Amino acid sequence: MTPQATSTPPETAEELSRRAFFTKLGLGSLGVAAVGTLVFYYRYLSPNVLFEASPVVNAGKAENYPVDSVTLDASTGIYLVHVAEGYFALNAVCTHLGCLTTWKQDLGIIACPCHGSRFSREGQKLAGPAPKPLPWLKTWLSDDGNLMVDRSSTIPALQYLRV
Ligand code: FES
Repeated sequence: MTPQATSTPPETAEELSRRAFFTKLGLGSLGVAAVGTLVFYYRYLSPNVLFEASPVVNAGKAENYPVDSVTLDASTGIYLVHVAEGYFALNAVCTHLGCLTTWKQDLGIIACPCHGSRFSREGQKLAGPAPKPLPWLKTWLSDDGNLMVDRSSTIPALQYLRV
C-alpha cells in the first residue's frame, strides 16, 4: 500500500506571482486605509478654532486727523471723525445688510452703496432701509498718544474724546 499524497500539488510560477500580486494589493489597501484613518484622527483631534484679529485698532496720532475730517479705514471698517467737540469713531458697516458705507465729502453724509441708506456724520440715519444709526465705538488715547478704537465696544452717541 502506497501512502496517498495529502498535500496540494506544487503551484506553478504563474500562480505564485498571482498570489504575490494579491498579497501586495491587500497590503497596499490596508496601508491606504491606515493613512486615511490617521488623517481623520489628526483632523478630529486638532482644535477647530478660528483665530481673529484683535478688535482694538490703533488709528495713529490724533494730529493726523484735522478738524472737520471724516476718515474711513476700509481695512478695519471704522470712521475716525474729528469735529470741534472732539474725536469719535463710527462703525462703517451699514446696519441694514452689512455693506461698507462711504463718506461723501461733497454732500457731507455717509452713504451706503447697496440700498441707499444715508447717515449723518454722527451716524444718525437720514434715509433708506437701515434700521439703526451707525454705532459709536469706544475710543481712547493710549499712553504714547495714539487714538485707539475698540470695534467690539459701542458707546452712546455724542460722547466725544477730547484730546
Ligand atoms: S446694506 Fe446699506 S442700505 Fe442695505
